[in-house]
Amino acid sequence: MSALLDIKDLKLGFNTLAGYVDVLKGINVSIKPGEKVALVGESGSGKSVTARIILGLLQEHRDALVSGDVQFNGQNINTLSPKDRASLRGKDISMIFQDPTSSLNPVFTIKKQFLEVLSRGDEKLSRKSRVDRATQLLGTVSITDPKRVLNSYPFQLSGGMNQRVMIAMALANHPKLLLADEPGTALDVSVQAQTLSLMRDLVTQNNTAVLFISHNLGVVREFADRIYVIYKGNIVEDGPTHCIFNNAQHPYTRALLAAVPRITGTGLPDVPEVSDEFLAPYVGHMQVS
Ligand SMILES: Nc1ncnc2c1ncn2[C@@H]1O[C@H](COP(=O)(O)OP(=O)(O)OP(=O)(O)O)[C@@H](O)[C@H]1O
Ligand SMILES: [Mg+2]
Repeated sequence: MSALLDIKDLKLGFNTLAGYVDVLKGINVSIKPGEKVALVGESGSGKSVTARIILGLLQEHRDALVSGDVQFNGQNINTLSPKDRASLRGKDISMIFQDPTSSLNPVFTIKKQFLEVLSRGDEKLSRKSRVDRATQLLGTVSITDPKRVLNSYPFQLSGGMNQRVMIAMALANHPKLLLADEPGTALDVSVQAQTLSLMRDLVTQNNTAVLFISHNLGVVREFADRIYVIYKGNIVEDGPTHCIFNNAQHPYTRALLAAVPRITGTGLPDVPEVSDEFLAPYVGHMQVS
């Protein structure tokens, strides 16, 4: 099956007051239609910027230098016009963020925001059809009182409810690709687990491909078919989830795995320290199978 998203030799740097900073050093990532793929790595390794490039947001950033190929559905996002890039967002590619309150607009009701998302998918849809569709979509994320939710402002809903609203909105126009950047980490663990399993069911039903971003391999294990491990702007290892868990080769991946909490009754394990000097000879791509 040909890839839905095929990233080749993607490089990103920023011009900053302190000089040029190299952020992505030539990464390759590929996702097939309907595949659930995770991108894991430590803070600052380049996960969110990768998602922002796929959404076409950094190509227009004044201080960002983006090069390489980001093929989505047969077109290179890096060379599309800003207008064509914008038309993919919220329609063919959508995104869920860590903290719903930062992406839902606090001054508008959920209804106003939801109807706007739906008109991006089909501008001819009548207001009544959009309200009906929003109501039905809220049902798919287990919201039992959609009327009240639609008439609420984000601050009137709990964090878990806002996250569900975000999931419903992100999937409303049947995107081919969903980017989920640390979804739910602002929520408590049990609500996070519920929303993730809901999201997994919905994307599976709709055959939506997902790039799931996280620094937590424990969460990723439940969700992803395949994992890419990113370390300081390089993909250092990738493979099917079970192979990464059973047969990781890269010391950085092993260190991440060692930090996955296990219920042993002895408390949480210490996160092992891995120095840059130790990892340096290993920076390069490993593939496990
Ligand atoms: N606008 C910018 N200007 C300069 N540097 C930036 C800019 N945006 C991001 N960076 C740098 O790019 C690197 C990667 O950032 P990114 O947000 O992708 O990290 P991340 O892997 O998502 O981390 P986290 O797990 O903390 O979210 C960081 O070193 C960050 O400081
Ligand atoms: Mg991030």
